[in-house]
Amino acid sequence: MSDLKIFSKDIPINGKRVIVRLDLNVPINNSKIDDDTRIKVIEPFINKLIENKAKVVLLSHLGRPKGKVISKLSLKPIFNYLEKKLNGKVHFYRERIDSKAIDASNKLKSGEVLLFENIRFFKEEENDEETFAKNLSKLGDIYINEAFSCSHRKQASIHKITKFIDSYGGPILEKEIQSINLIIKNKKKPVTCIIGGSKVSTKINILSSLLESADNLVIVGAMANNFLKFKGINVGASLVEKGSENTVKNINTLAEKNKCNIIIPVDCNTSSHVNGSPTYKSLKNIGSEDMILDIGKNTINLINKTIDGSNTVFWNGPAGYYENKNFSAGSLSIGKKIAENTKSKSLISIVGGGDTVAAIKNTGLEKTFTHLSTAGGAFLESLEGKELPGIKVLKKS
Ligand code: 3PG
Repeated sequence: MSDLKIFSKDIPINGKRVIVRLDLNVPINNSKIDDDTRIKVIEPFINKLIENKAKVVLLSHLGRPKGKVISKLSLKPIFNYLEKKLNGKVHFYRERIDSKAIDASNKLKSGEVLLFENIRFFKEEENDEETFAKNLSKLGDIYINEAFSCSHRKQASIHKITKFIDSYGGPILEKEIQSINLIIKNKKKPVTCIIGGSKVSTKINILSSLLESADNLVIVGAMANNFLKFKGINVGASLVEKGSENTVKNINTLAEKNKCNIIIPVDCNTSSHVNGSPTYKSLKNIGSEDMILDIGKNTINLINKTIDGSNTVFWNGPAGYYENKNFSAGSLSIGKKIAENTKSKSLISIVGGGDTVAAIKNTGLEKTFTHLSTAGGAFLESLEGKELPGIKVLKKS
């Protein structure tokens, strides 16, 4: 960590334009923010900058618009939110990043905030384009990356911008990296990794890397359907990924080689549609119209026993379709068990991912884990031991 340039209170910001790259990628439905966890986490830092009379320039993406303006991915609802929550006047800038934008940042008064529209509305952002990054850098006098969760992306506002401006990591980014490193180094065996979510193909690298150091790998969520299908179980109308057979086969082979125990669901809760109510099913009774939407009671017991026998647990990805409360029981029971054992048996627990955080939202569990990360992909890539491009550029030269 000491090899990174981290923003500290000794760096003068009074009257300076401070660009902060945030992760304001929060779920929004019909212009309403469904989960503000990520915004709440960064509010105190922004208010501190305001208090210290910086001119604050905020950059963030929302979703994956791929260089197009998509109105439902506008940061307008977040602007409305920040206007109410921040302790300084907030402006919203929705035009191109050109000399006019630079003028707007220069016109800011100390303690004011200028939020830019979704940075991914520009294709140059995702292409890590040099001229675009240079223009972005001109919006400020110093740059702070306070978006650990985006630092696995080689994109202009995370990566190339640092070439043109004095750049630092923010305090939350620092804490996130410190916690992950500490836990990776101090993990105590037996180690259990619980991985959920829907796509096995996006998590193949992390699964392969976790298999090398974990004693147990628990696979839940829609991802587990691929493993069940591979075993010859009829998964009915459940979500499965086309062409996942090879991936599953490779993971099973690797697990055997590394003596890692793979645990998949032994029963489930189903429905014929995602908004329905749950019907308990053993694996041999899944009908052609059934969708597996949560783990069943026997799977919960099996996972609880596995957690009881572990000294370190990593958890990423919900166990079911938690968006419908009828199917959130699996995720909640995993969260509860990890929290209980962290408290009573000094289990080292690291929980991460936007969906995982959303699945246990408002339960109070989030305060109990050894470390809770709001990052998804960046968190997993760090656990894989990868150096994230957005972090690499913050190294002291
Ligand atoms: C996240 O939600 O993990 C971050 O905002 C990164 O989003 P991305 O996967 O679209 O880059």
